[in-house]
Amino acid sequence: MIADFQNWTNHSQARIETFLESRLPGADCVPVRLHKAMRYAVLGGGKRVRPLLSFAAGELASADIERVTVVAAAVELIHAYSLVHDDLPCMDDDVLRRGKSTCHIEFDEATALLTGDSLQTLAFEILAEKCLSDDPRTQLDMVAQLALASGSRGMAGGQAFDLDSVGKTLSLPELEFMHIHKTGALIRAAVMLGARCGSQLNEEQLTRLDHFAKCVGLAFQVVDDLLDAEATTATLGKTAGKDAENNKPTYVSILGIIQARELAEKLQHDAYEALDGFGEAAMRLRQVTDFIIKRKF
Ligand code: IPE
Ligand code: IPE
Ligand code: MG
Ligand code: MG
Ligand code: MG
Repeated sequence: MIADFQNWTNHSQARIETFLESRLPGADCVPVRLHKAMRYAVLGGGKRVRPLLSFAAGELASADIERVTVVAAAVELIHAYSLVHDDLPCMDDDVLRRGKSTCHIEFDEATALLTGDSLQTLAFEILAEKCLSDDPRTQLDMVAQLALASGSRGMAGGQAFDLDSVGKTLSLPELEFMHIHKTGALIRAAVMLGARCGSQLNEEQLTRLDHFAKCVGLAFQVVDDLLDAEATTATLGKTAGKDAENNKPTYVSILGIIQARELAEKLQHDAYEALDGFGEAAMRLRQVTDFIIKRKF
């Protein structure tokens, strides 16, 4: 058990990097351009927040770390694919991601599309190939859970809602719906899949953990909206001010900076409350929550 949060984070990030490195096809493997682009989009960047949440939830459920590493990597691969597609000219049209050129700028649009497709299927490949739960039905259900979180009733659906909302003023429930889907769904999956690698939590515990994850997922995107408005391109490693430039409704455009910040803090409080009753076992989840709310990039 690593006591210090920064050490734990470094250790977890290194673990996920090593695993992803080993599971992505080599850059010399044909088709070379596609494999180079996949590695470019995934390796050597990003905060790895979703894997951190999987590891923290895994600790809560005393899960085997090798199993949690697989689900953490699967979620991160879906996330990386979503970023590659999110940056395309037909979506947010961004040129900078994780401090370097976006995938379609570094390679080309067709390669970026195929990179996203291939990262998505690689996520399900690794999720299906090893035993991740003592109960095979649980593992099948975990595969289905990630599929649901990623697809039209999860992340991709949220992205569709996002694109459809350009230039519109959304009500708060509509905005919440959009954020819970485009960002929250995958964050929820990261937490729940991490926990499901471990000892069976009871229904009531799973409900509380899911509520925690829902609060954190929404808070994550509220903070992302705040950073887009407040931080610099250099700190973010992606173009600041892009939401306003693209006419996107966000928590900042609808509520303003101060109320959006207050909402993030309220969600942090709700997330903490949902963990009441888990005691010390949820320490890491509380720490990752703090990191998500207080982050500067
Ligand atoms: C950015 O996610 C996209 C959103 C869902 C808001 P992250 O802020 O987790 O991006 P990386 O992985 O650290 O680059
Ligand atoms: C992206 O939201 C959410 C997904 C990629 C699913 P944003 O469009 O706000 O993410 P950034 O700000 O470009 O990272
Ligand atoms: Mg977007
Ligand atoms: Mg974007
Ligand atoms: Mg954003």
